[in-house]
Amino acid sequence: MSEAIKVSKDLYYIGVSDPDIRVFDIIMKTANGTTYNSYLLKTPDGVMIFDTVKKEFQDDFFSKLESLCSYDEIKYIIMHHLEPDHSGALAELTKRAPDAKIFISPMAQPMLKSIAQSDTMEFETVWTNKELKLGGKTLKFLSTPNLHWPETMSSYLLEDKILFSGDVFGSHYYDARVFDDLVGDFDYAFKYYYDHIMRPFKSDVVKALSLYKTLDIDTICNLHGPIIRNNPNKYIQLYKKWSSTEDRLHGKKIISIFYVTSYKNTKDMAHSIYDGLEADENLIANIYDLTALDEQNMLSILEESTGILIGAPTINGDVPKPVWDLLSCMMLLEKKGKFGGCFGSYGWSGEAVDMMNSRLKALKFRVPLNPKKIKLIPTKEELYECYNFGVEFGEIVNGKMVEMTL
Ligand SMILES: Cc1cc2nc3c(=O)[nH]c(=O)nc-3n(C[C@H](O)[C@H](O)[C@H](O)COP(=O)(O)O)c2cc1C
Ligand SMILES: [Fe+2]
Ligand SMILES: [Fe+2]
Repeated sequence: MSEAIKVSKDLYYIGVSDPDIRVFDIIMKTANGTTYNSYLLKTPDGVMIFDTVKKEFQDDFFSKLESLCSYDEIKYIIMHHLEPDHSGALAELTKRAPDAKIFISPMAQPMLKSIAQSDTMEFETVWTNKELKLGGKTLKFLSTPNLHWPETMSSYLLEDKILFSGDVFGSHYYDARVFDDLVGDFDYAFKYYYDHIMRPFKSDVVKALSLYKTLDIDTICNLHGPIIRNNPNKYIQLYKKWSSTEDRLHGKKIISIFYVTSYKNTKDMAHSIYDGLEADENLIANIYDLTALDEQNMLSILEESTGILIGAPTINGDVPKPVWDLLSCMMLLEKKGKFGGCFGSYGWSGEAVDMMNSRLKALKFRVPLNPKKIKLIPTKEELYECYNFGVEFGEIVNGKMVEMTL
């Protein structure tokens, strides 16, 4: 147990530490543990609480809260994000402070009952430009959906110039010294958190940054890791850089082909498709043998590519593992606006190509062409069909309208 920490004149940190956690949300490694940040604002007219903590740490949270106020002083509870790492103590808090009103985004409304396991809570929905006033303080709400769940929002405490950013600008990095200017070097954790939580929603990050830009921010009170008070602009600029799409190729679109092959049949198809793509000088085509590509490299290629073509033979009625690895790392990417297609050689049953194609559709890629399947060794004519497959795919990525089959 530790004590509440002053963040500004009236605002206190009442978050908790989880130094021993090593894996977060299944997908993230947390070498330095993490924290679940929560804040308490004291005003002459009552108290506002900003988010809660993971349930198993709620005793620590309540003891910090009790050191600062009594439960009947709590007027408002602001829930920026309902994921259980922040809403775990909400059910108990609403029992202890039954008169407190909860503020959530409209998207949070259908989730609130299941998260807090109660349907008697008093709540209000808020969005950008809505304000809440209490004891001389003004809180402005900002809609920042998908960062990290659809219901996520941020808020800004006008008089104190504090941004409550939710998971945005967070990092899984526990350090008892709490503030960015006092803790150890957490840059790696900041980037890692961005890559796993924010990167799949880059366009929403860009929208959130445009809202934050209108604010004069002294301190960022996030939900994980160090509170940022020393140089908030450094972290804002990093998000800006990581989320912007650089136009290195002056508008030309990239199409990347990924393949695996055992006897070069699928490889030959891949190269004919590549030639078809390259026929259009307004496209940049790439071709990769997946067996020699690391996941981080796959991700950066996928991210840059507007079109993705995947080729694999059928092996034992299935898609070979390197291709599943590619298909399974896509949860870390934004798929909006990307095109996909599949091809491959087979011997008798040929399931692989259809499996890959269904997966791309399920991931919400636009898949305009029927997959290209060729039995065993492709003939000259069949390679020409592959070439045309490439030409057609390239034209579609470059804007040709087609009807899509679902
Ligand atoms: C171990 C093994 C298992 C295979 N299993 C299947 C299968 O289940 N269904 C099928 O249609 N073809 C199967 N094949 C045939 C390959 O898909 C076929 O040889 C294809 O042309 C190989 O293309 P590639 O040269 O690009 O690897 C199998 C081949 C191997 C070597
Ligand atoms: Fe989250
Ligand atoms: Fe979180």
